[in-house]
Amino acid sequence: MLHLNEGIAPHGGELINRIVSDEQKQEFLAIADSLPSVTIDERALSDLVMIAIGGFSPLTGFMGFADYDRVVTEMRLASGLPWSVPVTLPVDEATAEPLKVGDQIRLNDGNGRFVAVLELTEKFKYDKVKEAINVYRTDEDKHPGVKVIYEQGAVSLAGPVWVMQRDPHPLFPTYQIDPAVSRAMFRERGWKTVVGFQTRNPIHRAHEYIQKCALETVDGLFLHPLVGATKSDDIPAEVRMRCYEIMMEHYFPQDRVILAINPSAMRYAGPREAIFHALIRKNYGCTHFIVGRDHAGVGDYYGTYDAQHIFDEFEPADLGIVPMKFEHAFYCTRTSTMATTKTSPSAPEERIHLSGTKVREMLRRGELPPPEFSRPEVAAELARAMRVPQEV
Ligand code: ADX
Repeated sequence: MLHLNEGIAPHGGELINRIVSDEQKQEFLAIADSLPSVTIDERALSDLVMIAIGGFSPLTGFMGFADYDRVVTEMRLASGLPWSVPVTLPVDEATAEPLKVGDQIRLNDGNGRFVAVLELTEKFKYDKVKEAINVYRTDEDKHPGVKVIYEQGAVSLAGPVWVMQRDPHPLFPTYQIDPAVSRAMFRERGWKTVVGFQTRNPIHRAHEYIQKCALETVDGLFLHPLVGATKSDDIPAEVRMRCYEIMMEHYFPQDRVILAINPSAMRYAGPREAIFHALIRKNYGCTHFIVGRDHAGVGDYYGTYDAQHIFDEFEPADLGIVPMKFEHAFYCTRTSTMATTKTSPSAPEERIHLSGTKVREMLRRGELPPPEFSRPEVAAELARAMRVPQEV
């Protein structure tokens, strides 16, 4: 039972920790050479980390068929708890074939490093097209999330995991704030309400606007950029984090905002991913979560506000985190402020619409985003990182 001063309950009630104790680590190391091993990719590695640190609570490992199938068809775990995106460990049939249910399996990263033990409780085949259509609302392989499904192995390995150690992030060690720590930080600061912000793009002024609008009504803002795998044309995480550091230095009150990395991989599942993103932030201790326009969307696969409507499919108490929904924000030349159609009387031609995609396109053309688009220090950093000539 949680006490009030422990903050919002993690999803499922308990914050999961699957990092081995020193003693267990020695036991695993002693048998490591005798275990069958499987090499996992970057996506699986980031899922593994998220499971281990409790970011995916209540998951303790990779999903078995009962959880997987109910998630795909009904957005619920077998227990009935809301969950919108499968977390599985697919391998090819040749890899799966010799592995026996009941085995302990050694999981290695791409460099052959022993990262975790999986206790194999199940191996199952699954319907890739059904997963694509249900989770991504399309079976087209040009959707980056669907492409991953089509390219991955045909058999999922399921079972609880034990992760050998929690390494500092190679690029952003100071921003590696795991759920137990973020919860403690919120507590120390006396924040009773905290809004989480997901992003995979360099911060622009529409982001800043909705972050600050949200912060006006809660105690703290948890800026939580995703630094796991993204599609290749997204701006690299190092550049995005530098932009956030600039914002923290110049434009945010230090005592109300925490910047931390989210190690997960991007799925681009739009509405389903908005639910997933919200549940992850609930595990980090957030009480609220920002959902703006086309959250986690890609191309034209989702309607502008589908990721907001999907929250209506759940009882608020079942989700346990409150979505804060924002309309498409733009710079209004009539009032010289950021706004939405809820707050601005502007005609369409008086609105400068901003998006991460537009910033990327401008940078590719060698142009700097204007001040209505990005704070000048951020624009300069993007230009430097993307090697745009600076005499603008
Ligand atoms: S996402 O894939 O992580 O959603 P992005 O980093 O661009 O992409 O968006 C982060 C959050 O800001 C999402 O909730 C998104 O809906 C919201 N957002 C982005 N641009 C705007 C905008 N112009 N107006 C309102 N919300 C926006």
